[in-house]
Amino acid sequence: MSEQQNFDVVVIGAGPAGYHAAIRAAQLGLKTACIDAALGKDGKPALGGTCLRVGCIPSKALLDSSRQFWNMHHIFGDHGIAFDNAKIDVNAMVGRKDKIVKQFTGGIAALFKANKIAAFYGFGQLQPGNVVRVKQHDGSEVELKGTNVIIAAGSESIELPFAKFGEHIVDNVGALDFTEVPKRLGVIGAGVIGLELGSVWNRLGAEVVILEAMPSFLAAADGEAAKVSAREFKKQGLDIRLGAKVATTEVKADGVHVTYNDAKGEQTIIVDKLLVAVGRKAATRGLLADGTGVQLNERGQIVVDEHCHTGVDGVWAVGDCVRGPMLAHKGFEEGIAVAELIAGLPGHVNFETIPWVIYTEPEIAWVGRTEEQLKADGVPYKAGSFPFAAVGRAVAMAEPAGFVKVLAHAETDRILGMHLVGANVSELVHEGVLAMEFNGSAEDLARICHAHPSLSEAVHDAAMAVDKRAIHKA
Ligand code: NAI
Repeated sequence: MSEQQNFDVVVIGAGPAGYHAAIRAAQLGLKTACIDAALGKDGKPALGGTCLRVGCIPSKALLDSSRQFWNMHHIFGDHGIAFDNAKIDVNAMVGRKDKIVKQFTGGIAALFKANKIAAFYGFGQLQPGNVVRVKQHDGSEVELKGTNVIIAAGSESIELPFAKFGEHIVDNVGALDFTEVPKRLGVIGAGVIGLELGSVWNRLGAEVVILEAMPSFLAAADGEAAKVSAREFKKQGLDIRLGAKVATTEVKADGVHVTYNDAKGEQTIIVDKLLVAVGRKAATRGLLADGTGVQLNERGQIVVDEHCHTGVDGVWAVGDCVRGPMLAHKGFEEGIAVAELIAGLPGHVNFETIPWVIYTEPEIAWVGRTEEQLKADGVPYKAGSFPFAAVGRAVAMAEPAGFVKVLAHAETDRILGMHLVGANVSELVHEGVLAMEFNGSAEDLARICHAHPSLSEAVHDAAMAVDKRAIHKA
């Protein structure tokens, strides 16, 4: 018989959604516990979920390291900077990434302590009656009863039956820890992970081939943004093959043989490492004991309403394990909203204004609807766009690629979407997020004074271009 402890809130999972929920609940005076099973590279418990351990943060560390290396070879010359014999020490680069991960996972542990959140390290399973049974790493079991339970179990990589993960075939976790630059890297899936991690190793000198099953590139993005970014990736040497359906993979002495079919018929590539990035699925295996009443949908996600409630009294679910985009910041907002709802406050997430960012070079970012979606929905709209090639700051930075496009309702001028490709657009997209959150119009954005010279002038001029009055556009 295991010991039982009582809490106001028990959170399963200390990833972005879970740790936000736990900290906000604790701030609101609720007695809170949070359970997480993950271990870091050192074998010790590591809070922060996929995002901090093997996702957003480590990938950005490697993207930045590899970008410096790429710039040395491709941009420094423009600035008149010459150097001899620059080399990359992959182990030092990965070590830097690990240090950053440790700093941030340790930071969550410190925040838990400061907020008096009881952390439990092990695997939590929901039982009927809002009880979570935790199998702790030391082998002991503990039962936590929550007046409320918030499930934030996250997601895991989808494994293809014909490409089992191992030493040569990896998911995002493996691709963050190569010990040397693979000479040839194959990637299955030209989605967010494939493009980001493909870019890292391409910049460091790997020959990268990305096989994408869909006939179009980045179908979720605005068509123009996808087209412009595809052109830039091609210039960088990323070989993206569309309509390529992988049939088999085989690890042989000379590398991984990847056979796929496209319009030209059956083809095989041989690579040293193969990254499989074909999407992620809700991590619900073993999470729910019989009789909890919590439902899963056909995609294995926990069924919730618009308030993240599962329909079972006191049981909520947030983040990657429920519907909606698998984005850390979407999880943050859901975690906070649920903690506030539990405390009797009006928690809320606006799904219309969740930004998307792909951290390639150039970066790709957007908020709201694409032109294609507006056309499909029959919404009358006006578009204004402005290229970074005409923005002084961007050219001075040797970052002329890309553009900003503002989409506004043809009659009301209300902003319906903003699409950006270019340097630092991961930051600039928030002008669109803010404007849309405040129901702003293109004219509102156009009348806001933007600093000169700055990249944000592209946003300003794109907003002005909606009514054909961009000053710097011929
Ligand atoms: P994804 O859904 O972004 O892309 C997967 C791609 O693989 C799609 O283009 C799909 O058509 C393709 N695909 C699927 N099966 C295939 C097959 N058998 N052969 C060839 N292509 C195939 O998924 P990804 O890149 O694995 O990322 C998973 C999740 O992680 C995403 O939902 C994303 O939101 C999140 N993420 C977000 C990041 C960000 O916000 N910057 C960074 C990394 C991940």
